[in-house]
Amino acid sequence: MSASSNISTKLEDGILSIYMDRPDKKNALTADMYTAMVEALQELDSTPEARVGFITGSKECFTAGNDLADFLQRPPSKGEEPPVFRFLKTLPKVEKPLVAAVNGPAIGIGVTMLLHCDLVYAATDSKLQMPFASLGACPEAGSALLLPQTMGYQRAAQLLMLSDFFTAEEGKQWGLINDVFSPDVYQAKAYEQAKRLSLQPANSLRVTKMLMKKAQKEVLEEIMELEMDYFGKMLKSPEAKEAINAFMEKRKPDFTQFN
Ligand code: COA
Repeated sequence: MSASSNISTKLEDGILSIYMDRPDKKNALTADMYTAMVEALQELDSTPEARVGFITGSKECFTAGNDLADFLQRPPSKGEEPPVFRFLKTLPKVEKPLVAAVNGPAIGIGVTMLLHCDLVYAATDSKLQMPFASLGACPEAGSALLLPQTMGYQRAAQLLMLSDFFTAEEGKQWGLINDVFSPDVYQAKAYEQAKRLSLQPANSLRVTKMLMKKAQKEVLEEIMELEMDYFGKMLKSPEAKEAINAFMEKRKPDFTQFN
C-alpha cells in the first residue's frame, strides 16, 4: 500500500510499475513520496510475482527532484535518517532489475536515481539536470562516484559543477541512457524491455546484477555516506537558503554576498 497518493504502484506482467505523479509540482518528491518509493522498492524485492521494477513519471515529466520547499523547511540530516536518505540507501540494494522511463524534466535525484537503474529509456523531450552546486549543495546518490565512471570525469564535472542541462540524446551518447524514443512511445518501448526482462530467469538476473555491482559496493556505500553528510550540512548554508528562496520567489540567486 502506498504511503502517498502521489506515488502509485501496479503489479502486472511480472512488472511492478512505480509512478511518480504530482503534476502541479512537476512530480517534485516530498518526504511522503520517498517513503512510498522505499515501500515500493521493498515490495519489489519481497514479492515473488514481481520480477522487474519499472519507474516512471507522468505525462508532464519524470521528476523535478526533491521538493525544494521541503529542503528549506526540513533539511535532511544524517542523524534522523529522513525518507530521502532511506530512499537513497534502498535504491542500490534492490536485487531485481530496475527499468526507468524518463520524459520532460528529470532534475537532481531524477537523474541520479537513473545511475542505479539497470536499463534507462528516455523521451526526446527529456530535460536532464543535476543542479546540486547551483543550489549550494553537493552530489548525492553516489553520483560523485558513478557519474564520472559512466561518462568520464570532465563531462561529469561540467554537469555537476555548472549544473548544465542535457538532452536524452546526449545522455545516450554519454552512456547514461540506453535508448531514446518519441514522447508518445517512450513509455511503451521501455515497458517492452521490462517485459523481456520479466521472461528471463529471475535468479540469473539477480546474480548478474549482484556481480556487476559487487566490485564497488563498499566504496559506493562509503561515498554515499560522505555525500549525505555534506548534503545535509550544506543545505543549511546561507548559499543554499539563497538558492532555494530565489527559486520559490522566481528570481535569480545572488551568491556574490557570500565568500
Ligand atoms: N520543488 C518544489 N516545487 C517545484 C519543484 C521542486 N523541485 N520543481 C518545480 N516546482 C513547482 C514550481 O514551484 C511551480 O509551482 P507553482 O506553479 O506553484 O509556482 C510548478 O512546480 C511548476 O514549475 P515551473 O518552474 O513553473 O515549471 P517549468 O516547466 O518552467 O520548469 C523545472 C520546470 C523542473 C525545470 C523547474 O521547475 C525547476 O528547475 N525546478 C527545480 C528543480 C530543482 O532544483 N530540483 C531540486 C534538485 S536537488
